[in-house]
Amino acid sequence: MKILSIETSCDETAVSLVEATGDFPHATYNVLGNALFSQVDIHREYGGVFPAVAKREHAKTLVPMLGKALTEANMFVEEHTELSQDMIEKLTTILHREEGLADALITFFEHYSIPKIDCVAVTSGPGLEPALWVGISFAKALGTYWDIPVVPVNHMEGHILSSIFTGEKLPEVAFPSLALLISGGHTELVKMDDFAHYDTVGETRDDAVGEAFDKVARMMDLPYPGGPEISKRAKVAREKNLPQYSELPRPMLDSGNFDFSFSGLKTAVRYAIAEQELTEEEKEALSRDFEDCVTEVLLKKTQNAIDEYGINTLIVGGGVSANAYIREKFNEFFASGYPALTVYFPPKELSTDNSIMIALSGHARLKDAKNTEMLAQIVAEGNLSL
Ligand code: KG4
Ligand code: ZN
Repeated sequence: MKILSIETSCDETAVSLVEATGDFPHATYNVLGNALFSQVDIHREYGGVFPAVAKREHAKTLVPMLGKALTEANMFVEEHTELSQDMIEKLTTILHREEGLADALITFFEHYSIPKIDCVAVTSGPGLEPALWVGISFAKALGTYWDIPVVPVNHMEGHILSSIFTGEKLPEVAFPSLALLISGGHTELVKMDDFAHYDTVGETRDDAVGEAFDKVARMMDLPYPGGPEISKRAKVAREKNLPQYSELPRPMLDSGNFDFSFSGLKTAVRYAIAEQELTEEEKEALSRDFEDCVTEVLLKKTQNAIDEYGINTLIVGGGVSANAYIREKFNEFFASGYPALTVYFPPKELSTDNSIMIALSGHARLKDAKNTEMLAQIVAEGNLSL
């Protein structure tokens, strides 16, 4: 079956076309088309993601991304089509909150033939609600005009599946597994007794780890998103063997549970900077101190949960899992002390938000598919949990 997937939960507008042969989780996947537009250059000017700006950009970019994904998949066939007045009204109603999107999509439908696609998968949460709604309304419009079902998907399940995706198949996973999800909005440890059987055993009490990277970067006058900027400078500090800039706290390291807290660490960095203009070398040293601290906390908490629950597989996912130092430390540590444990990190290009992961999760959740009469049931849920 062919799945068209849509991701708009934050600042990436992504559309993919994935063909799945067989049943989840033993299917073979073929990515036929994959289009992604990152809004980071736009948000960088504001120093972070503004929901209203993200919403406007998604509305502007979705039709071009759809065209790109279909072109890549060789499923883009020009054909003049007349839409009924009734259909035009339906589509206009579905998309009435998304500026310009109804007109753009109707024009698209008038010029291209209906592709042979079996269902649409779309992120319904968690994320920024105004941004989520654009993707959801777009998915509903496609489902309505193409007359195919729409599957709502949990973005975090997408991150888990993209971490183990080999590009073609999902591996045989030995359960119980533990997912460490680290992104701009989330920091959580999730125990999995099977696919889709989730138990969140720890989470952040305040800031997410990606958010801490972004905020600390901002304090050092580094651009958004802060994760890659800090990572780059931390690496230089290690190469130069720079002395410690500041002794930072390891929040909740010995709290006896699996929860995290990063806001105190952020405050400690603010005090350490104390409104000074940092030199480039000070920024490098502080970046390294911060990255060391975050890595140590994430590693220790993950290790504790692995010991507690007799975990066979560790799956690390979310944007922060792109971090090279975290990858290196985790792989090194578990390879030496836990030889029976399998550790997965996502392929680099699937670490941050993308729509291939939404297709995988959509395939896992086909039973939740909503047909045209049931589309109203799909709503954006900013705080959707696993
Ligand atoms: O998963 P994601 O793309 O979006 C959310 O669902 O939040 O994660 C984005 C987060 C941002 O906070 C960004 O700074 C962080 O991932 N990030 C990194 C790195 N690359 C992205 N953090 C640390 N090191 C990186 N290399
Ligand atoms: Zn994400």
